Amino acid sequence: MSALGVVADWLRCPVCAGPLALDDRTLRCPDRHSFDVARQGYVNLLGHAAPRNADTAEMVAARARFLDAGWYAPIAEAVADAIAGCRAIVEVGAGTGHYLASALSAGGNEGALGLATDVSVPACRRAARAHPRMAAVVADTWAGLPLLDSCVDAVLCVFAPRNLDEFRRVLVPGGRVVVVVPGPEHLAELRAAQGLLEIEDDKAERLADSFGEATLRAVGFPLDLDERAATDLVGMGPNAFHRSGPVPATRTRAEVRVVVGRLD
Ligand SMILES: C[S@@+](CC[C@H](N)C(=O)[O-])C[C@H]1O[C@@H](n2cnc3c(N)ncnc32)[C@H](O)[C@@H]1O
Repeated sequence: MSALGVVADWLRCPVCAGPLALDDRTLRCPDRHSFDVARQGYVNLLGHAAPRNADTAEMVAARARFLDAGWYAPIAEAVADAIAGCRAIVEVGAGTGHYLASALSAGGNEGALGLATDVSVPACRRAARAHPRMAAVVADTWAGLPLLDSCVDAVLCVFAPRNLDEFRRVLVPGGRVVVVVPGPEHLAELRAAQGLLEIEDDKAERLADSFGEATLRAVGFPLDLDERAATDLVGMGPNAFHRSGPVPATRTRAEVRVVVGRLD
């Protein structure tokens, strides 16, 4: 059975909140609302057009090149460690699904299943193909996740919008939340050289305080970016909306915080 066939048990109808079931290539609820599986394997449960901040196809392609080249491998390893042992994992704002796919491939996670959600259709097209035990659904984290209550034991959120009330609702009691946020010095040299958007201070500490229980791990490593990687790194983020063109090779440093906690 496809990953979507299994993960369909977690999904709820975005119209009436009834449980969805996969019938051939269509998800249906008992009230007969139906959502077709796209040719590329994802399902759109958004119910409206994607908002303007959804990543574009160009941003998603830049992200895929950058992440597949391994530049952020230490972050992927930290994420895989943080969700080790979880069996049912949803990654929200998953982009290409890189982190969830890496975690599913990591030792100890052989039987785990994953669902990537993102408001961007081009992102979900990629995420649907990222791992055989992972499905992808177009959904808006802020509008509410198309997931049943208490259906997953981990929620993963890497550099993406959060909705702690929804995370709490979809997690089983005692379930784990793993959030990766940039530290204040993340890519400082690149941001200064390119006049990129500033990073909010103290995000990780404030976030950890809002969890019932949390640990915070700092992950930092140097990045000696060539022109291709520097251009992709800028092009895959929010700055892509207001600048374009090649970015010169830059020596900088990734500085992120991995917050692991419980919300109950
Ligand atoms: C900075 S990217 C991070 C992507 C991925 N987590 C990664 O680190 O490779 C932010 C992602 O959040 C998605 N996004 C933005 N607003 C969203 C929302 N309201 N609901 C779900 N996804 C959203 C974007 O389309 C984009 O893929």
